[in-house]
Amino acid sequence: MRRFTLRVLAAVVLCLACGCKTLESLGKLDPFHQSRPPLQPNRPVVIVVPVGLPRIEYPVMDPPSEAGLELERKLFYDKSLSADGQVSCGSCHNPRYAFSDNRSIAIGVGFKKHRRHTPSLFNVVYLKSFFWDGRTPTIETQAVEPFLNPEEMELAEQELLKRLNDNSIYQDLFERTFGPGPISLLKVGRAIATFERTILSGHSLFDKFNSLGNRRALSGSAARGLDLFVNRARCAVCHQVGKEYALFTDGLFHNLGVGVTAKGELRDLGRYEVTRNDADRGAFKTPTLRNITQTRPYMHDGSIESLADVIEF
Ligand code: HEC
Ligand code: HEC
Repeated sequence: MRRFTLRVLAAVVLCLACGCKTLESLGKLDPFHQSRPPLQPNRPVVIVVPVGLPRIEYPVMDPPSEAGLELERKLFYDKSLSADGQVSCGSCHNPRYAFSDNRSIAIGVGFKKHRRHTPSLFNVVYLKSFFWDGRTPTIETQAVEPFLNPEEMELAEQELLKRLNDNSIYQDLFERTFGPGPISLLKVGRAIATFERTILSGHSLFDKFNSLGNRRALSGSAARGLDLFVNRARCAVCHQVGKEYALFTDGLFHNLGVGVTAKGELRDLGRYEVTRNDADRGAFKTPTLRNITQTRPYMHDGSIESLADVIEF
C-alpha cells in the first residue's frame, strides 16, 4: 500500500515537473481549459539550509517548486485576501523587521488592535507548536488561521475560497502547484506552509563560530558574551544553543512575569487558555533570539522597548 502511494506521488511529482499530459487531455474535453493558454511547466527548487540550522524534511507531497513559490509569495503579500483589502500576512510579518513588525501590538483589518505582539517568522519550520500559547500543533493548520482570524485578516472561509477560485492567476498557480481541481482551504494551508519552510535564518558569525568551529568569527567580547549566555547566565536553558545547530528556543512555555497589572493580575493567561492547567497561567512560548535587533519591541505583549531593558527585566 505504502509503495503504491509512493509510486502515485512520484508520478504526480514527475507530472508537475515536466508538463502534465492529463491536463492537456482534460483541456480538449473541457471548454474552460480550452479557453486558457497552456500552463507553464512547474520545476522543483532546491532550498539550501543555512549553517547552524537542522535539516528540513520537505513533505513528499509538497516539495518547494517554482510555481509553488510564486503562488506562496503572492498569497503572503496579497492584501485583497483580507476583509477590508488593506492587510496581508506581509503587513505584520514584514521582511524588513525579520518577518515581524515594529509595533508593540499587531494591528489587523479596520485598524483593530490584536492582543499580542507579532513574532518573527524566521525558522518557524522547526517549531513544535505555533503562536505564543502554542495552540496550533501543525504548520499547515496554523497557516490558514490568520486569513480567518478576526484580529488579523477576518475573511470567512467561503469568501476566501471564492476570491481565490474567481481569480485566473490563482487558478493557474494552484493548478501548476497542486494539479487540477478547485482551490480548497487545505491547499491554501499547504501552500503557505511550504513558503514558511523557506523562511530560514542562519549562517551568521555566531553560526560560523558555533557550528563550523571558526574561532576567529567572533570578537573576544562577543565570545565572552556567548559564554555568559550559555554558562553563567544560563539563558540557553530556554534559548537553546546546540553544538551543531542553535534555534535559541526550547519550544516550551514559561511564565516570566511579563504582562502583569499593578494589582498583580495577568492581562493574558497565555498557555493556560490551551491546557487549563494552573501551572501554565501567564506562560508563553520561548521566542527565538535570532535577528533580535530587528524585532523590537519585545515579549508577547511588546511591552519592553529595548534589549537593554529585557536584560534588566
Ligand atoms: C494583523 C497582523 C498579522 C497578520 C495580518 C498575520 N499575522 Fe501571523 N501573527 C501575528 C500575531 C500577533 C501572532 C501571534 C498570535 C498569538 O500568539 O496569538 C502571529 C503568529 C503567527 C505565526 C506563529 C509564529 C510562532 O512563533 O509561533 C505564524 C507562523 C504566522 N503568524 C504566520 C502568518 C501568516 C502565514 C499570515 C497570513 C496568512 C499571518 N501570519 C498574518 C500577526 C499577524
Ligand atoms: C526559563 C526560561 C528562560 C530563560 C532562562 C531565559 N529566557 Fe528569555 N524568554 C523566555 C520566554 C518564555 C520569553 C517570552 C516571555 C513573554 O513574552 O512573556 C523570553 C523572552 C526573551 C527576549 C525577548 C524576545 C522577543 O522576541 O520578544 C529576550 C531578548 C530574552 N528572552 C533574552 C534572554 C536572556 C539574555 C536570558 C539570560 C539572561 C534569558 N532570556 C533567559 C524564556 C527564558
